[in-house]
Amino acid sequence: MTQETLTVTDNRTGRTYELPITDDTIRAMDLRQIKVHEDDFGMMSYDPAFKNTASTRSAITYIDGEKGILRYRGYPIQDLAQNCTFLEVAYLIIDGELPTQAQLEEYEGYIKRHILLHENIKQLLDGFRYNAHPMGMLISMIAALSTFYPEARLVDDFELRQLQMTRLVAKVPTLAAFAYRHVKGFPYAYPDPDLSYAGNFLNMMFRRAEPNYVPNPVLERALDVLFILHADHEQNCGTNAMRAIGSSRVDPYSAMAGAAAALYGPLHGGANEAVLRMLEEIGSMEEVPSYVERVKAGEFRLMGFGHRVYKNYDPRAKIIKQIADEVFEVTGHNPLLDIALELERIALEDEYFVSRKLYPNVDFYSGIIYQAMGLPKTMFPVMFAIPRTVGWLAQWAEMLTDSEQAIARPRQVYTGYGERDYIPMDQRD
Ligand code: CMC
Repeated sequence: MTQETLTVTDNRTGRTYELPITDDTIRAMDLRQIKVHEDDFGMMSYDPAFKNTASTRSAITYIDGEKGILRYRGYPIQDLAQNCTFLEVAYLIIDGELPTQAQLEEYEGYIKRHILLHENIKQLLDGFRYNAHPMGMLISMIAALSTFYPEARLVDDFELRQLQMTRLVAKVPTLAAFAYRHVKGFPYAYPDPDLSYAGNFLNMMFRRAEPNYVPNPVLERALDVLFILHADHEQNCGTNAMRAIGSSRVDPYSAMAGAAAALYGPLHGGANEAVLRMLEEIGSMEEVPSYVERVKAGEFRLMGFGHRVYKNYDPRAKIIKQIADEVFEVTGHNPLLDIALELERIALEDEYFVSRKLYPNVDFYSGIIYQAMGLPKTMFPVMFAIPRTVGWLAQWAEMLTDSEQAIARPRQVYTGYGERDYIPMDQRD
């Protein structure tokens, strides 16, 4: 019979230790018993950027990066994208089960009830410059919401937690659309409760003077599917930030502002914006080979390519590619798609990308679709943050109710000076 243990021999002392193995992991705290002297601190594991450290047990999202599998609560992403609405998936991710018709209608009702913003938020927005990045505005407004709902600090109260989660899922699209309209100089468009989640978002973004905005059904569905694909992705940088900040038991608005800030970066949710800039810089299909050569020479990275977990085609990118065709039938062809397809074709045949298992990720094609829908590049990370709100909140609630979790506080290996004598100012170089 195989033993579920790892035997470790410390060659400094010759001592041997048996460490239990659970779910293919050992507990880092079990290393602490490994000491050279009784008064040693004990051994730690060193893992910059958490490349091989599980920080939590989680029942929300499953990814098999080698096989290109993504599931929310056990359901394959392809099935959810094909059959569900975004709010159905949001319910699934937060609650754990797909809703019945009655549960879904009740949830949709709650979302509609909380979709409006306090009017003072508009004054906050007015304080931003006309060319402020909408993601910067969104982050600030999410943080500001905590001041409107001070009871949100009671994070251990189940009912209050549910209320804040509903508020955030409902209000983030409104914040996002208001940020866009601030940049445009358009009057803010209020939500229309008769429209779907995605349809209403398009309404708040693009309504002009018409009394009732009617979203194009193809674009509405495409956006809903894009939202489903971005809803959660287990322990990525933004989610890790949400959990780490939330572990101090701060309110979810403050924690989520931090998560959104993490998402903003070009290596994370800001990559879709960076992809568009890259495709525009390449300019034509003829320029693709020379651009790829510069990537291989280490001048810069191919944005929208590669992933910490996927070492295969990102299943979300596959679905997005299909959506692109449907969207372009409505909006007309986006010539950047041809450059993107050529870039993908050349990269996937190239030894540099093949040997490193670098494939297109979710951000490679999403920006081209958003651009075709009429969104400026600066809105792309915001479009990522809207659906990811669901994942952040589900992960936050899971963290709070996990008795093994505590305030996130990594250790370090100190590499600085030992104790030094203080140097008075007049003796310093
Ligand atoms: N272009 C060129 N080379 C790359 C790329 C890329 N996009 N990504 C990784 N590599 C190379 C890298 O230089 C390294 O090569 P070597 O072994 O010779 O030093 C090797 O592949 C491994 O890269 P890594 O940096 O160790 O991988 P990582 O897991 O730390 O980084 C990543 C993952 C997503 C940050 C990275 O692939 C990247 O920077 N991609 C471009 C930005 C991007 O598209 N981000 C969106 C990610 S998906 C959505 C999301 O998370 O928000």
